[in-house]
Amino acid sequence: MRNLWPEMNNNNINDKTAEMLLSRARAAMLHAYAPYSHFNVGAAILFDDDTVFTGCNVENSSYSLSICAERNAMTTAVANGLTKPLAIAIVCRDGTFCPPCGACRQFLCEFNPDMTVILDPAPDSSDEKYVSLALKDLLPYSFDAENLKDRKGE
Ligand code: THU
Repeated sequence: MRNLWPEMNNNNINDKTAEMLLSRARAAMLHAYAPYSHFNVGAAILFDDDTVFTGCNVENSSYSLSICAERNAMTTAVANGLTKPLAIAIVCRDGTFCPPCGACRQFLCEFNPDMTVILDPAPDSSDEKYVSLALKDLLPYSFDAENLKDRKGE
């Protein structure tokens, strides 16, 4: 396993599970609808009951309406009753390093900041198969429900 940022490395997910999630993400990426960016992305999320939900990016001619693969996978899972993600694998075309965008980091943190993020290796990596990080390390001091707790109702 590549250790991109050693102090952030997250080892909660074993090699077999990581490879399975990367494989599921690659399969989902085949369905990406990305006629504008031509940047296909796939994501696969493992949940606490061992189920996996996948997603791809879906773009729109009104560009800002496009949705990322990660949020597509997560919202599909919620719609199916799953809200406790343990790990997510994210892949993009060419098998290159594809970290989640800021919006997806915030969106996923809502459900589990401790979840593991599994990515294809960074371009400068040697022979490691993937990187594994904790989501909370990718989004320190995220905004969450705690920040709303003292809000007075109207
Ligand atoms: N994209 C994702 O699906 N996930 C990310 O985390 C980064 C970006 C998509 C959005 C858009 O369809 C394309 O990649 C180019 O930005």
